[in-house]
Amino acid sequence: MVFIVLIAIVCALWAWSRYKNSRNKNEPPAIPGGLPLIGHAHLLIGNSVELWKSVVELSYDCLRLGGVLSAYIGPRTIYVVTDPEDALTVANNCLQKDAFYEFAKCWLGEGLVTGKLSIWRNHRRLLNPAFSQVVLDGFLGVFNSQSRRLVQDLKKEVGKGPFDHWVYTRHNALETICLTALGIDFTEKNVLNSQYVKATEQIFNVFVERFQKFWLHNDYVYSWSQLRKKQDSLLEILHNMSYTVLQKRKADYLNRLETGKTEDKTGTKFKPFMDLLLELAVEKGAFNDREIQEHVDTMIVGGHDTSASVLMFTLLLIGSHPEVQEKIFEELRQVFGNDDRDVTKQDLSQLVYLEAVLKESMRIFPIVPVTARVLDKDLKLKTYTLSKGRTCFMFVYGIHRHPMWGPDREEFKPERWLDPATLPECPTAFAAFNMGRRICIGKSYAYMSMKTTLSHVMRHYKVTGDYTKLVLKIDVMLKPETGHHISIEKRNLS
Ligand code: HEM
Repeated sequence: MVFIVLIAIVCALWAWSRYKNSRNKNEPPAIPGGLPLIGHAHLLIGNSVELWKSVVELSYDCLRLGGVLSAYIGPRTIYVVTDPEDALTVANNCLQKDAFYEFAKCWLGEGLVTGKLSIWRNHRRLLNPAFSQVVLDGFLGVFNSQSRRLVQDLKKEVGKGPFDHWVYTRHNALETICLTALGIDFTEKNVLNSQYVKATEQIFNVFVERFQKFWLHNDYVYSWSQLRKKQDSLLEILHNMSYTVLQKRKADYLNRLETGKTEDKTGTKFKPFMDLLLELAVEKGAFNDREIQEHVDTMIVGGHDTSASVLMFTLLLIGSHPEVQEKIFEELRQVFGNDDRDVTKQDLSQLVYLEAVLKESMRIFPIVPVTARVLDKDLKLKTYTLSKGRTCFMFVYGIHRHPMWGPDREEFKPERWLDPATLPECPTAFAAFNMGRRICIGKSYAYMSMKTTLSHVMRHYKVTGDYTKLVLKIDVMLKPETGHHISIEKRNLS
């Protein structure tokens, strides 16, 4: 009897929440496959490989059914958008990130990715100049020396058959971002050790596991879980590194101010991101220590896993398409001849085909395949109206496969980027760096560093791989589970 009463109460609550949720007459249609009570929550169950399969399936459903859909996670209604124009309307009108981003606040605090809107507005304005072309040009020396380091590290894999190049691209990108954001390198073993490297990877798994176990979404329940204990120990390692470096650089900076010496004790020739923040903090009182640390942690996360993943996917795609690889090498020959010299600003602007390859790689494998915004008002799209208070997920994977990309949209074809006539008219059909006012602040940094890296690596090595063997998973970002190994052979430069 008690059981029947309980079932009746649950059904009544469900019916009531559905009634409350369907207040808007012009709602988008529901995703097929919803179940009683749980709605589409079953799509979230499973490991990160299965979660990725759900994202792909939902992307194609959404494209087939007009580009905007509703889904139900228990009593909660969410939206999925794959229409590029509607996605821009959402991105520009609703700047607040979804509550899921709160999971990462314990690490990144009020940094740009996870910060409250009121703080984000002011801090984004203050931080934009730190990514100006003049500042980025100052990093080119680091990008070149780091690329040479990668070429050197890869030497031991020459002729040895397939190996996991992710290990190399990730380690190298982490060093690069630490150099440019913090002004330190891996020779400072006490702060940048293998423990830190591992922790930056493991913390993402913790966030995804929490997302999938919806009973852990509640902070109180989560505080008693084993996962929370694991999170705390990882955070200790991560925060300890940025705190230690902040204290050291702050002491150096204040010492330079006091003594009137302009030269950095560490001999750094460019201005690391942390020094720009210290300047803003000391001269304008713009940030306190905690905020500086949160911004630096955010740049490290935003700046290394992303570029490293794109490089990893790109090398695999290049290795699977010999004709693309030959065109890259031909372009490199035209720009550098047989010379192994450093890449200059002028070279970067001439590497048009290489940039097309990177863009096409990010279109096929968008490493941030889903982003989410909270709707702080009812929002009218081209056909439907979305209701205030709900979350809208922009499925970048689906946006990149919209029919406006043409009948060859599933193919890897860098040439499409060389002729505007073969590209969609809507600029937000390419959303690898997000879109609108919260577009990635590091976009130009990423292109500069990735083009520099590839132009060194591709001058030295010939790559082979097979991207069709890839098994993908979602670990906040898109990652390969297996099948991402490549082989390299030495190129003859002369
Ligand atoms: C190929 C490399 C990169 C890709 C594909 C990428 C992609 C993205 C995407 C999709 C977002 C939006 C995230 C969201 O709304 O959930 C974003 C935001 C951001 N990215 Fe990147 N990113 C890259 C490189 C970088 C680099 C190198 C940096 C810093 C050095 C960086 C720093 C940031 C920051 C701080 C934000 C938050 C911006 C804001 O909300 O104002 N990213 N990025």
